[in-house]
Amino acid sequence: MIETVTDLARLRAIVAGWKRDGLRVGFVPTMGNLHAGHYSLVKLARQHADRIVSSVFVNPTQFGPNEDFTRYPRTPEADTTGLEQAGCDVLWLPTVESMYPFGVGLAANVHVPGVSALLEGAFRPGHFDGVCTVVSRLFNQVQPDVAAFGRKDYQQLAVIRQMVTDLAFPIEILGGEIVREGDGLAMSSRNQYLTAEIRPQATVIRRVLLAMREAYLAGATREQVEADGAAQLEAAGFQVDYAVVRLPDLGEPGNSHDGARVALVAAKLGSTRLIDNVEF
Ligand code: PAF
Repeated sequence: MIETVTDLARLRAIVAGWKRDGLRVGFVPTMGNLHAGHYSLVKLARQHADRIVSSVFVNPTQFGPNEDFTRYPRTPEADTTGLEQAGCDVLWLPTVESMYPFGVGLAANVHVPGVSALLEGAFRPGHFDGVCTVVSRLFNQVQPDVAAFGRKDYQQLAVIRQMVTDLAFPIEILGGEIVREGDGLAMSSRNQYLTAEIRPQATVIRRVLLAMREAYLAGATREQVEADGAAQLEAAGFQVDYAVVRLPDLGEPGNSHDGARVALVAAKLGSTRLIDNVEF
């Protein structure tokens, strides 16, 4: 049976007991409204740990003033059942007050320079500060040996890896594969904001990413690939924030096409902002 914990002392006692028994602790942080993508992270963490903690916390500090914090979908009962079925042992449910004891305005802020400022960081100022601020607290609360994050949030994973190295958290970070709907749309809690009318259009993102990969591998310049990707998305009704090809560390590639790359897109369809990427 999964145990739901709302008290930090209880969480610490459980984890300390596991560690005394020599067990490896895995962690999957989430904002709830869970889907198969999250459950795949629990299963991934399970392959690297003996016990799993997952948190559900809709973190106010990572939402911009005009973003969807108050309407972010909350489905606690389904989340608990799904986590249990996926193999989670403890569901950690911090309150805003316990996460930010001095209030959000006085919270010690964790800022990871460089990678946080690119792409998402440019369109969502302060977003990664909020993510790092909450994830560092969650790491201190849970004290896992290993933690799993989805590769759909490619830049988030890169920012967290940098934070973990820089702040010397003794935690192994795993990146879980993107889980997709049957038609290729990357699973996301925000997909449910798409109206039935525009939902079919959302699959264009994946098709454009694959076309960007194909064109780049066939020798097209990065500038051409990016311009064509953005044009295809706009033609399909998206408002494009970016459609880019980057090095794995999100730096800009030079003229050489050698080595690993990632194509990333962020674009709005109606009022819903979607992100996706393809690594190659
Ligand atoms: O990816 C998410 O759901 C969130 O950014 C995270 C990592 C749980 C931090 O709030």
